[in-house]
Amino acid sequence: RSIKSLTTSPSSHVLRRGYASEAVPERKVAVLGAAGGIGQSLSLLMKLNPLVSNLALYDIANTPGVAADVSHINTRSEVVGYASDAELGKALEGADVVIIPAGVPRKPGMTRDDLFNINAGIVKGLCEAIAKHCPNALVNMISNPVNSTVPIAAEVFKKAGTYDPKRLFGVTTLDVVRAKTFYAGKAMVPVAEVNVPVVGGHAGITILPLFSQATPKANLSDEVITALTKRTQDGGTEVVEAKAGKGSATLSMAYAGAIFADACLKGLNGVPDVIECSFVQSTVTELPFFASRVRLGKNGVEEVLGLGPLSDFEKEGLEKLKPELKSSIEKGIKFATQ
Ligand code: NAD
Ligand code: LMR
Repeated sequence: RSIKSLTTSPSSHVLRRGYASEAVPERKVAVLGAAGGIGQSLSLLMKLNPLVSNLALYDIANTPGVAADVSHINTRSEVVGYASDAELGKALEGADVVIIPAGVPRKPGMTRDDLFNINAGIVKGLCEAIAKHCPNALVNMISNPVNSTVPIAAEVFKKAGTYDPKRLFGVTTLDVVRAKTFYAGKAMVPVAEVNVPVVGGHAGITILPLFSQATPKANLSDEVITALTKRTQDGGTEVVEAKAGKGSATLSMAYAGAIFADACLKGLNGVPDVIECSFVQSTVTELPFFASRVRLGKNGVEEVLGLGPLSDFEKEGLEKLKPELKSSIEKGIKFATQ
């Protein structure tokens, strides 16, 4: 992989003097579903990320407009739009990170699992193309139901002989973003300083925020912890209901997706101690996939970190979530292997 200094032109020399002696590797990021509600904002945020040198924007509808629009922004990356199935291979070729927000969102009254019938097929097709065109890319799965789409991706990659569990991630960062925001509001601490691990999966009670490990520490009552936990678990539904039929979280998800992709890029570039929560292949519990804190590195997952000490309330939540998470994982595996 070629190394290109950020200080190649006189103008960038002035603008990016802080990078004068640093070499920033070339990194290609592909966004699949780039013209959607999440896709557009996420494409914008990836265009603003100085770690990205090439940005491939793929969607089956409205790609040219989004790609032209984003491409005018005067940041490092070169933007190319890819508009049809025939162009998917080119969009993926050489990608280091592939972010997948392609698929239908919820409407009020639906669960994430209600999206399975449509999104499972979309994700399967996209992952078959990834296996063919960029088998070494880190895959950031956003499409719901994440508890099933990640196992689907794993099975597709296994079938193609390209599966590397270190390179497949379910994006659960939005749960962490919400937990931090809600905790800061109750604990009256600066939100920028807050850290809260969120483990399990990404749907309802499978989302388990570990407020007992939240920092900065605050002395919150059991009632407040219970309410914070429920609000984090229902955060997606809160947005779906507020949007009243016009989709689910897009802006906060784009923010969360950009944070997670940035962490993947930093890991690839050798930045030490990059840690984010993600739904990955795991031995932390008896379930084959589980979200927990993960150390990211040059190969993707460097280490899946354990759960740490849990409160009795969290231990109970962990046992409660296992049957639902197990059945969502099995549903995904069954779909991809039948
Ligand atoms: P959206 O309908 O606004 O956008 C989806 C985009 O996917 C559309 O532009 C559509 O053309 C495109 N698309 C459909 N099939 C495609 C294919 N085969 N290839 C490429 N693109 C394709 O939906 P949205 O609000 O952006 O949500 C997208 C998905 O993300 C949903 O499944 C939603 O549930 C999920 N989501 C996940 C999280 C999370 O935390 N992981 C958060 C929010 C939303
Ligand atoms: C979210 O958590 O916002 C997403 O999973 C979208 C949804 O359907 O709730």
